Amino acid sequence: MKITVNGQQHEVTVEDDMPLLWILRDELGYTGTKYGCGIAQCGACTVHLDGFAVRSCQIPASTLDGADITTVEGLGTPDAMHAVQQAWVDHQVAQCGYCQSGQIMQAAALLETNPDPTDDDIDTVMSGNLCRCGTYPRVRAAVKTAAANLKEV
Ligand code: FES
Ligand code: FES
Repeated sequence: MKITVNGQQHEVTVEDDMPLLWILRDELGYTGTKYGCGIAQCGACTVHLDGFAVRSCQIPASTLDGADITTVEGLGTPDAMHAVQQAWVDHQVAQCGYCQSGQIMQAAALLETNPDPTDDDIDTVMSGNLCRCGTYPRVRAAVKTAAANLKEV
């Protein structure tokens, strides 16, 4: 099947039930996306599929022919970070970092649909992204900073 990841087209031959997460990490080498629970409960594996945030551990290969995927590696570059990535750096959000690529992808998707989220909006959308290190207050602050910076662009 053919999938586009971060603007690059790939042809992969995998079992129909292989989750997108394994395709990204093991077949294509995009290891920024993390495995947490494997059962759609933690959000560590969040990527964008055709512009929407999804749990890549739950998306089987059989549904992906022609899909357009963005991972944390494709959201921005070190020299031109996405507003969410820049806000994450500015607020020093990460602690151990394991959950953070999923948090960033979920936050970027939130701001696509809601450019001016309230605290409640942020907490509701981000509540499915678990963080053992308890970075939630910094996540909320960084989402607000990213929203403000995106409005200025
Ligand atoms: S690894 Fe996919 S939601 Fe936890
Ligand atoms: S930063 Fe450690 S799990 Fe979130």
